Amino acid sequence: MGARPQFIKAAAVSSVIRNEFKEQIREKILHTGQHYDPVMSKVFFDELEIPQPDFHFNTGSGLQGEQTANILIQTEKIFESEKPDAVVVYGDTNSTLAGAIAASKMHIPVIHIEAGLRSYRKQMPEEINRILTDHVSSLLCCPTATSIENLKKEGIFHHNEAELNHPAVCFTGDVMFDIFLQRYNGNGYPQNINAGEPFILATLHRASNTDNLINLKNILSAFAQVINAGYDVILPLHPRTRKQLELLNDVPEIKNLLNNSKFKITEPVSYLSMLSLLKHATLVMTDAGGLQKEAFFSKKPCVILRDETEWKELIENNVAVIGGTTTSGIASAFHSALNLKISDKPELYGNGNASLKICEAIVKYFSLR
Ligand code: UD1
Repeated sequence: MGARPQFIKAAAVSSVIRNEFKEQIREKILHTGQHYDPVMSKVFFDELEIPQPDFHFNTGSGLQGEQTANILIQTEKIFESEKPDAVVVYGDTNSTLAGAIAASKMHIPVIHIEAGLRSYRKQMPEEINRILTDHVSSLLCCPTATSIENLKKEGIFHHNEAELNHPAVCFTGDVMFDIFLQRYNGNGYPQNINAGEPFILATLHRASNTDNLINLKNILSAFAQVINAGYDVILPLHPRTRKQLELLNDVPEIKNLLNNSKFKITEPVSYLSMLSLLKHATLVMTDAGGLQKEAFFSKKPCVILRDETEWKELIENNVAVIGGTTTSGIASAFHSALNLKISDKPELYGNGNASLKICEAIVKYFSLR
């Protein structure tokens, strides 16, 4: 693991390994260092009581290939010395792909948690990471019904007698739902945030939005319209977006927004702080995968700040709206989403025991070999 959402997913699985499978599974944690600022990494380990990593690299940031390659070189050395029976990778980051390549080339079974998701948009580095990781995995743990179907389309089927060339595929549900159910109880606001209600909770960090200044400006202009409609906007900001914002400082419209007291930019927040904000928010606007689902888990409508989502069931069940990246598209999606009523929760992401099912699947995989 190496990036913020992976720490959250690992917290769910790691606690089940420690508490319920300690006789069968021994886990060692490798932190690639992809995320390194304390607010992007340490805070999650402390708050979610994830054991300290057994191995911790200082990979840091870099170009896509450079970062992936650096992680690959270092993980391979650890796998060589530790000789693990299996390597678990989470999600779709560069750390995921690097771990999967290193392990599979050493004939170590790769267990992919959150397998089978597709946005069908290869401009996203995450889409490439997902496809490649799934195709070298031996045990694919799928969070949704759609993800199993996506894998079938690419010729990845379940084999009862699984081995390196014939993977096992199972539906487990989403580990983020597990941890959400365990932790969603906070009432207060995070200490450092002075939230005026009603407010919209927003996040923004996808490369396609931050590195494309037209998209970034469009999205910020949409936030200005949301404020004009009577809402505060709280935006816990990823460091990459903060850097890019400086490039728009001189655009009058953006300058006005940045000076508006109803536009509240904060440091990135911890997992529990995010849940507290979710509890009080009227609606969520985000380009992040995890937060789209957390909005649904907490019965809040969501505007997705992208043209598509790999969590398609949110759209199919009318609990989120695609806003895209134009100001008018986002503003119109915002008004539609305000009217969504998310009272009943269809069980789109399992029933909160995905981590248990994953551990059972791991034990079964090895018992058949
Ligand atoms: C990565 C994942 C993305 C995930 C996101 C969660 C990839 C390709 N992308 O994107 O899927 O949703 O993590 O946050 O793996 N930076 C810091 N401090 C940090 C980390 C990053 O300042 O601790 C800044 C650096 O300027 C860096 C930039 O953020 O260049 C991007 O970081 P990187 O890890 O490459 O990608 P994310 O955008 O975080």
